[in-house]
Amino acid sequence: MGNHLALVTDRASLEIDYDMPLLLDACKAVGIRAEIRSWQDPGIAWDRFDAVLLRSPWSYVENLPQFLEWCERVSDVTSLFNPLPVVRWNLDKHYLADLAGAGVPVVPSGFVPPGADPVAALRTFLAEHDGAAEIVVKPAIGAYSRDVQRFSRSAEDGAAAHLRKLLDQGRHVIVQPYLDSIDRDGETDLIYFDGVYSHAIRKRALLLPDGTVDEPTQEARAARAATEDERAVAAAALDAAAAHLKLREPLLYGRVDLVRGADGNPLVLELELGEPSLSIPFAESSAARFARAISVRLEETSRKRKSR
Ligand SMILES: Nc1ncnc2c1ncn2[C@@H]1O[C@H](COP(=O)(O)OP(=O)(O)O)[C@@H](O)[C@H]1O
Ligand SMILES: [Mg+2]
Repeated sequence: MGNHLALVTDRASLEIDYDMPLLLDACKAVGIRAEIRSWQDPGIAWDRFDAVLLRSPWSYVENLPQFLEWCERVSDVTSLFNPLPVVRWNLDKHYLADLAGAGVPVVPSGFVPPGADPVAALRTFLAEHDGAAEIVVKPAIGAYSRDVQRFSRSAEDGAAAHLRKLLDQGRHVIVQPYLDSIDRDGETDLIYFDGVYSHAIRKRALLLPDGTVDEPTQEARAARAATEDERAVAAAALDAAAAHLKLREPLLYGRVDLVRGADGNPLVLELELGEPSLSIPFAESSAARFARAISVRLEETSRKRKSR
């Protein structure tokens, strides 16, 4: 009772969701009645589930209004994990400004709104970051490295053209210095369940010098133990998110991606609280930890529902 869970994906994404098989088994092992479902399947009565857990609904990137509308509908009839306000805030990398405002070290970011002049915006950014030999131009709302590009400082025309293309699509854009520590050390992605550190991976640099953009495949990842300073920054980012969103309990799951800046200190590249890939195959006991955290959350949720 109170343990019926939908693990949400979509048709195309399920086969690249390497977490799903391990998570499904782990959920069953702790007595959760878990079922894999696509958010785009119109035939599902979501109210039959005690909770709906976002896992790999990655087709949302091309279907954002539909996805948000679906999240709203689900939230009306059952519990969405993570909750809708968290998902909404986290979809847009403007959250980096909120984190910075709370004192969390983040990758320096210039935000360019649609309608801005791309050349002027770029020159302002370059003047403010005169130590940046290369820059990154990426959409504020995006995933899977799509439309993320790296340019040398001297390739102003190419950078302005990419910026203009994204702005013309009506999108907000972020410009950052390219942090070249990633070429040597990769990024560190730290995974947390119920506010507790579970494991981390190393992800190699995805933006190649020749302009190729790699996808974050399994081959790009390897197990890595997060260092003390990385864990401190990741915990600060999660605390700041929880405070900003006025959450009363720790986030059921979250991922914090860090890259080291020029001074060697870790900076937040991304905070993933919606539908992060959790690299469960790289730390197999992590599936059991996540399943236990889900089970506790399901119990709490059904207790609250009954007492209403
Ligand atoms: N400022 C940066 N410096 C170095 N590499 C970056 C930077 N921004 C993005 N990247 C690279 O591009 C990848 C995708 O960018 P990211 O900000 O994680 O967006 P998303 O994963 O949402 O598409 C990162 O994993 C990293 O390899
Ligand atoms: Mg990323």
